[in-house]
Amino acid sequence: MKHWKRTADCGSLRKTDVGKEITLNGWAHRQRDFGDLVFIDLRDRTGIVQVVIDAAKVPDLVATANSVKSEFVLSIRGIVQVRREGTDNLALATGEVELAAEVIEILGPCKTLPFQIADEEKMPLVDETLRLKHRYLDLRRPSMYERLAVRHRAIKLIRDFMDREGFLEIETPIFTRSTPEGARDYLVPYRLEPGLFYALPQSPQQYKQLLMVAGCERYFQIARCFRDEAQRADRQPEFTQLDLEMSFVEQEDILSLTERLTIEVVSQLSDKEMLTPFPRFTFDESMRRYGNDKPDIRFGLELVDIGEKLPSTQFPVFQGALDEGGLVKAVRYPGGASLSRKEVDDLGGFCREFGAKGLATIAVTELNPAGIKTPIAKFLTEEQLQDILTVTEAEAGDLICIVADPKPSVVSNVLSRLRLEIGRRLNLRAPNKLYFSWVTDFPLVEWNEDEKRWDAMHHPFTSPYESDLPHFETDPGKIRAQCYDLVCNGTEWASGSIRIHKADVQARVFDLLGISKETQQERFGHILEAFSYGAPPHGGIAPGIDRLLMFLFDEPNIREVMAFPKMGLGFDPLMGAPASVDEAQLKELGLKIVPHKKS
Ligand code: AMO
Ligand code: AMP
Repeated sequence: MKHWKRTADCGSLRKTDVGKEITLNGWAHRQRDFGDLVFIDLRDRTGIVQVVIDAAKVPDLVATANSVKSEFVLSIRGIVQVRREGTDNLALATGEVELAAEVIEILGPCKTLPFQIADEEKMPLVDETLRLKHRYLDLRRPSMYERLAVRHRAIKLIRDFMDREGFLEIETPIFTRSTPEGARDYLVPYRLEPGLFYALPQSPQQYKQLLMVAGCERYFQIARCFRDEAQRADRQPEFTQLDLEMSFVEQEDILSLTERLTIEVVSQLSDKEMLTPFPRFTFDESMRRYGNDKPDIRFGLELVDIGEKLPSTQFPVFQGALDEGGLVKAVRYPGGASLSRKEVDDLGGFCREFGAKGLATIAVTELNPAGIKTPIAKFLTEEQLQDILTVTEAEAGDLICIVADPKPSVVSNVLSRLRLEIGRRLNLRAPNKLYFSWVTDFPLVEWNEDEKRWDAMHHPFTSPYESDLPHFETDPGKIRAQCYDLVCNGTEWASGSIRIHKADVQARVFDLLGISKETQQERFGHILEAFSYGAPPHGGIAPGIDRLLMFLFDEPNIREVMAFPKMGLGFDPLMGAPASVDEAQLKELGLKIVPHKKS
């Protein structure tokens, strides 16, 4: 055994260890020199403990101790002792004791750090590119290590749960061909025949369905997915799903399994509050009440349909919107009656940013005619105004915010964002709550105005409700899909569906999506053929692992819960990827670089 080998972890030392001789390994978190005493806070992944070098007892160690700088890797042997009276550090689990050093060995010196390995609060000051360039230093922060550890535990809990439920973990290829999930593919050139490419999977969707045809019945995988799409705070170009698929099931079986799994994992890893059973909304209901298909149900302030409840609103802007098939809806802003003129104008600006043509407001200082102020007073009778307050259940202090538009999607989008903004301002989006809910019965397809065609709302393998099949010919927008999302605090966590398992229905959906027969054969011939050899009814779902960690840590940035994430435009400043390659390599692959035209 190496003489420097550790016999205890830094974070483990307690009063019961006093008198023991032990060896610690770790990093010098901090070094303080008081002349007769030198202190080194030694850190390993379990925690921090104070080491004291007493010049009176170990004079030979002082020079070494003084040469130690931040983040040196050390092995220190010594005797555990209680700290001097009055110097306990209650912030540390080891704060009552210290190690009186007898031997210090420097195992790895450290040059000047690009940034301090500091506590959480100080880190936002460090540029993120710099942090990611030196991610191995960034990950030394105890809070980052904690995230990796919880991620590990989440995956372990998931694996154990799935195993108990009779699922088989099966790996599927990374080099494959395009499987549509709505993003661009990452391509890998095939050396032996220039012009051919593998695509990295956007998800294991087709393979898992083929595994159902193969008779595996219950499959899961902790699956890496690759999507070349615009990044957002909750999106990375490569990310991890718990991908699962089951045969001989109905939608209810998948919802129930996923719900049990979610409750088990979340309750094991946090003490955040959940609403159980998870509330369920149909897509239509979610759109009506929250204006989007991922409701944040930690707070109320639901949208109120004024147009529906008060069909003759008179106000030309409102009436005009209704006449053109649009919506007039409102959201309550408690306390908003006291906003200044400028603050209300800014709220209008916020709405216009998301496409509203205007924002009508009614300030309700008090629930009587004298207490009501609104720029639209001249368009409404006192009775109509009162009716609006009644249907919106206005309370004293409220600002009633109304948006009208001929396009229902504009009203929904704007008011759903305004509702979230109000929730944020009023601290209603509590971090100690994880309010999951199901959204079901999505439309099968949505109209793509730019390309004048129907797009799959989920993916083309999603099964329509049998009862909606007649709409295929007449009104495809009305076909509902056996498709469901699991949402948490206003973010989509998981998405899945019952699949089409009959080749003729699959072909019909491809037809609807405007995929020609040739393309169907060329791109999906293999799956259509598989379905013709005895395919069981099946369905599945895929919750995002990275997003689960975001929820658990109340972390808005997905990069903070991944070991080695990519920057905004897909760059990895640590590895320097993506990178150019040798001319010879390109030649071998039959590739020629045509630079983008500078715009
Ligand atoms: P979908 O594309 O909705 O469904 O993805 C399912 C879940 O994966 C996570 N996710 C992401 N996480 C981080 N970065 C991204 N770019 C990203 N994209 C998706 C989300 C999302 O809810 N094959 C289907 C599932 C199925 O039908 O079974 C699929 O991939 O948490
Ligand atoms: P105007 O007649 O354009 O001066 O608008 C009168 C009031 O109606 C103002 O308070 C506007 O902010 C509001 N308003 C205008 N367009 C809309 C709209 N599309 N939805 C809600 N309010 C609007």
